[in-house]
Amino acid sequence: MTETHIVALGGSLLRPEEESGRAKWFGDLRDLAAKLQQNGTRVGIVVGGGLPAREAITLAEPYVGDVHALDEIGIAATRLNATIIQQVLQEPGLDVAGMIPLDCDHAAALLGEHNFVVMGGTTPGHTTDAVAVELAIKAGAGRCIIATNVSHVYDKDPRTNDDASPASHLTLAELGEICGLGKPRQAGVSAVVDPVAVEWAIEANLAMCVLDGRVIGLLGAALEGREFSGTNITV
Ligand code: UTP
Repeated sequence: MTETHIVALGGSLLRPEEESGRAKWFGDLRDLAAKLQQNGTRVGIVVGGGLPAREAITLAEPYVGDVHALDEIGIAATRLNATIIQQVLQEPGLDVAGMIPLDCDHAAALLGEHNFVVMGGTTPGHTTDAVAVELAIKAGAGRCIIATNVSHVYDKDPRTNDDASPASHLTLAELGEICGLGKPRQAGVSAVVDPVAVEWAIEANLAMCVLDGRVIGLLGAALEGREFSGTNITV
């Protein structure tokens, strides 16, 4: 049976600090994708905006007051990063959808035809974490993998709590509490996982996991159903 997985790939992962790290990261990603394709696994990859999103929003902010208009700029950056990942996977001949879908219905349909579908954001009001949850639900994936630039979700915000410790297991409700679910969105403060994503996962009983996407081996382990270091989030 064909297995379908959905991964939210944080935009910061595309730009490791060292150039040598970048070559390794893109190379390892390609190698993993080739292995997954050989096994017939399908993967929907939702790419975040990272540096281009931050730069573009900062540039426009003094002249654009509407938050949704700034979100549209962020979405454009996610689609730019998605195109980079799509082309990097296409180059060695992997079976990647030739377009960046605009919504999750289209992405889920394309996953019926290709091993890989790469997309960015969709509509204002949330981040690509939420898009990945929506796609996981629509594509019938068992869980949503959030590959980001931290090793775990911490039980408290490690930036403000010295006694915060990494959690290897959480429930969705606990994750919602940590990410500020139900609290007003604070401009410029981004939670380890977008609370909108957690809310949608709770509604759909969708399991999640958070792992360090800088280490492609961890992503490979999660995609291949092996144990990995990170945070497993159960319903
Ligand atoms: P990201 O998904 O990269 O979110 O989208 P983020 O949390 O700001 O980035 P990281 O994960 O910390 O690097 C970038 C921005 O694009 C807009 C939002 O403004 C978001 O902050 N966006 C993205 C949307 O409005 N809708 C989407 O579906 C995706």
